[in-house]
Amino acid sequence: MTNLPRRIETRRLRLDATCSAHADAIHRAVRATLSELQPWMPWARDPSPDEQLAFATHAERQWEACLSWNFTIFLENEVIGSIGLANYQPLIKTCDLGYWIRTDCAGRGYMTEAGTAVIEFAFDRLEMHRIQLLAAVGNRASQRVAEKLGFHSEGIQRDGSKGAFEWHDTYMLGLVSSDPRPKS
Ligand SMILES: CC(C)(COP(=O)(O)OP(=O)(O)OC[C@H]1O[C@@H](n2cnc3c(N)ncnc32)[C@H](O)[C@@H]1OP(=O)(O)O)[C@@H](O)C(=O)NCCC(=O)NCCS
Repeated sequence: MTNLPRRIETRRLRLDATCSAHADAIHRAVRATLSELQPWMPWARDPSPDEQLAFATHAERQWEACLSWNFTIFLENEVIGSIGLANYQPLIKTCDLGYWIRTDCAGRGYMTEAGTAVIEFAFDRLEMHRIQLLAAVGNRASQRVAEKLGFHSEGIQRDGSKGAFEWHDTYMLGLVSSDPRPKS
């Protein structure tokens, strides 16, 4: 896992390894997306600038330690979201994929584009064997992104995820390195 690229360019987006310098812009994007994040993201009550700085600083340290890999998503130099691989299990080479996009940028295929690139990064650069994704039963947009990325639905976990205020029954989805990949 040496010489990992800290920047991935896709057809329309730039993904940069999240660092403390991104914190203010991430905070602004989160504020602009709060009502769409709150149902599904446990951290999305109303994160303060300090909390967002703590997140970005933590992400930077986790990357250095090869424990998780989070990218800030840029469109024309503006932060429009975040995508990352977390909960890395080095012995079995698995991790979890998570993502969100700024509300005014949703529905244009951006997360499918970013996810395709991060999956390639996970399998080809990190040599992951399996990527997991949790999508609440009510979160149709996330399930559709997972489907377009090639994930397989593997069952429902009772109260397997939480939004800012309540738990949700949740689909467990998985993609293994031998599965067909989404086309970039
Ligand atoms: C989930 C999320 C990241 C999707 O980002 P996006 O950039 O809009 O994703 P894409 O444009 O690549 O694809 C979205 C797909 O979901 C579909 N979709 C969106 N809302 C939907 C709904 N309510 N019901 C069914 N499908 C829906 C879109 O039509 C599109 O599918 P299509 O290409 O077949 O038309 C975004 O909605 C988001 O940030 N949500 C809040 C945070 C979140 O839920 N994160 C995931 C937690 S598991």
